[in-house]
This record gives sequence, structure tokens and C-alpha cells, in this order.
Amino acid sequence: MLMRMLYSGIRRHLRVHNGFTAVPVRYYEDPHKGYRPYWNKGEGNYGSTLGKQNVLHVERARESILSLVKTIPFTDKDSAFNIAEYGAADGSTSMAIFGELLTTLKDHHGPNTQFQVIYEDLELNDFNSLFKRMSGIIPDPPSYLPEMDNVYILASGTNFYKQCLPSNSIHFMMSMISVHWLSRTPTTFKDSIYEDDQSCAEETAELHKQAELDWETFLLRRSRELKRGGLLVVSVCAEFEDRDTGQNRHTQSSFVGVLNEVWKEYSESGKISKDEFVNTNMSACYRTMKEVRKPFDDKTSPVSRSGLTLLSAEAAVNPDVFYNIWKEKKDKAGIDDREEFARMYVSAHRNWSNSTFMNGLSDSRSQEEKEQIVDGLYGDVKERLSRMNPKVFKDDGKMIYIVIRKK
Ligand SMILES: C[S@@+](CC[C@H](N)C(=O)[O-])C[C@H]1O[C@@H](n2cnc3c(N)ncnc32)[C@H](O)[C@@H]1O
Repeated sequence: MLMRMLYSGIRRHLRVHNGFTAVPVRYYEDPHKGYRPYWNKGEGNYGSTLGKQNVLHVERARESILSLVKTIPFTDKDSAFNIAEYGAADGSTSMAIFGELLTTLKDHHGPNTQFQVIYEDLELNDFNSLFKRMSGIIPDPPSYLPEMDNVYILASGTNFYKQCLPSNSIHFMMSMISVHWLSRTPTTFKDSIYEDDQSCAEETAELHKQAELDWETFLLRRSRELKRGGLLVVSVCAEFEDRDTGQNRHTQSSFVGVLNEVWKEYSESGKISKDEFVNTNMSACYRTMKEVRKPFDDKTSPVSRSGLTLLSAEAAVNPDVFYNIWKEKKDKAGIDDREEFARMYVSAHRNWSNSTFMNGLSDSRSQEEKEQIVDGLYGDVKERLSRMNPKVFKDDGKMIYIVIRKK
């Protein structure tokens, strides 16, 4: 009797949902365990530290975004033009470009056009800072919102490896410096926290296999959400061959190298266990141009068949902002402030790297004990950086920018 009721309930449920979507969409499974923002306090920490660097990475894509956005079909002027950012953090790095984008679109479609801007990021993201930035409570960079009519902002706290927004609903999408974060940690590197010259072939292959799967998943989810003629712009942290040494380098090679060095010393001195060292792995993958292009170059891939086509794919090297601040002070005022360089660098890059170390520590430790160890790590890294020459250490950011259209 009970089973009959259950089955008829399921049948009813399926009937009700018939016709809404071609494929059922489930929003939540397990909470995401990889990336956890550091300093989740509603104080705009992201934008005042790492955002200073990342805003430059976004600037690179500015021209192509502003010139192409007018080509997106938008005929139903009674509905809203929908814009979405994936991996938006506190909204600080996209603030300027979204202001310009909205101005361009308002000029093009008329001042009465309505816009929705949807900021997507993980459920633990600092959305509190995002809304404080939008309203101007956190004033730097200046918000576009108070100056604009008919612009509505929303947030989506959903893992971007799932469908986050309704099918066929978004006109323009952007994701900057986020898709290197994987859906899970696929490998445990024995001697490092991320792939390096000593990593064995199997470890590296596992990482890149997961990255390939995740890239396809990310693109297929966005393909469902995008409208025909809509655009998706993505900047991807890159791995590339160093021209001078022939070795593989990636964005943040120097910083990841120093983190690795100090963490290894912790395991050798017994501050953390050997297992904890092995279990500390970045849930991220820096990709090559070939990997980024693969789903588009293969015209029979699920991504190509879903209607996504590549308009452009360009590699770029963007300057290290903290190095430039250090250099300017040295050249103009004659002050070689390596401590300030180390302080700015570590507080910026602790944002994204902190959770890797917290996740690596054993659950037999209390949260407080884990935090003490990780605080110690960043203190030691800062100290080591302040003794290095920023000219040697500096990490220019290697990025791949791709622009995609849904046919
Ligand atoms: C380095 S930040 C980039 C933020 C911003 N787009 C920028 O350009 O500065 C990476 C962002 O990706 C988000 N992220 C990582 N994995 C994610 C996932 N699976 N789903 C949604 N957001 C994710 C993180 O929470 C973080 O805010």
C-alpha cells in the first residue's frame, strides 16, 4: 500500500515537471569541499587584497567584451537582458567592467531596458561584502549601481559545476580566474602540494583528466543556460613552457613553490605529519592552450554539439601588481620595501590558498589547532618572501582568454 502511494507520488511528480526542462536538474548534492574563502567577514577583504591584482586580469578582456556585447540578440524589450558572473567573489573585480558593459548596452538598447546581473559563487562565498560593495557601503571600487536605473542585482550560491540558472535564460556570461578550481581533488601528490617537475606521470595525468572532465561539465552547464547568440567570456589560469628554461611554469609558480617548501619543512620537523603533507593538495589545475581549446577544436565533442563555438582564444601575461608597487617605491623614493611587498603578496594570495592547507590537516585536530598551524605557515612564508628579491620572485600572471558564442 505504502509502496503504491510512493510510486504514484513519483509518477505525479514526473508528470508535473514534464515540459519544463528537457533534462531534470538537481541543485544540491554534497556541499563543495575544495575552495573556502579566507576572511569571510563582510569587510571586502577579497577586493582590497587579491582583487587589486585580478582587476588587471579582467582589464585585458575589456575591449573584446565591450565590442562584442552589442552583437548579442535582444529583441523582446519587455523582458530583461540577463548578465551572469560565475565565481564572482565579492564583485569587486568585475565592478568597473560591468559598469561599462551596462552603459554600452543601455546606449545600444535604450535607457528603459531592464537588466538583471546575477553574481554566482560557492555557498560560503562572501556575498555579504558583495552586497555592501553594490550599495556603496564599501566604496572602493565605486559601485555602478547607485547611478543606474532598471538594473537589478541577484546572487546565486551554487556550485558552478551544476546548472545554476534557468535553461536558455542568459545573454552574457563571464567567469574570470575561477575555473582552475576543480569539482574535487583528483590526486594526492606525494612530494608537493601541486604538480611540479618531481611529480610522477600518473599523478599529473589524474589531475589533468579531472580538469578535462570539469572543463567539459562547466561548459555544458553554461551552454544550457545561455541564450542563442549569447556570449561566454572566460579567463583561465594557464600552464605554459618557459622560453628560457624549457620547463613547465604556471600562474603563481613562485608562490606555490614557497608554500610547498615551508609546508614540507613542517612535515620534516614534525609540526605536521607526513600523511598531512601528502593529503595537502590544491584542488586546482592550470591548463594549457591545447586543453582549453580541445572541446571546441573537436567538432564532434558534446560541447561543440551543444552549440558552443569558439570566437577567440588568446594567451596573455599580465604584470604582477605587487611587484610594480615595490618597484615604483624603489625607483621613485629610493625605498626597497621588501617587507611591504611580502605583506601585500601574502595577504592577497592567502585568499585562495588558505583552504588547501586547512583541508590537508587531519580531522583529529581541532579547528583552532588547524588555524594556528596555518597562521604559522603564512607567517613563515611572509618572512621568507621578505628576504627574497622581488625581482627574482615576481610572478607575472599567465592567462588564457576565450570568447565563446552559443549558436
Ligand atoms: C580567484 S577567485 C576569482 C574571483 C573573481 N572572478 C576575480 O576575477 O577576481 C575564484 C572564485 O571562484 C570561486 N569558485 C571556486 N570553485 C567554484 C565552484 N565550484 N563554483 C562556484 N564558484 C567557485 C571561488 O569561491 C572564488 O570566489
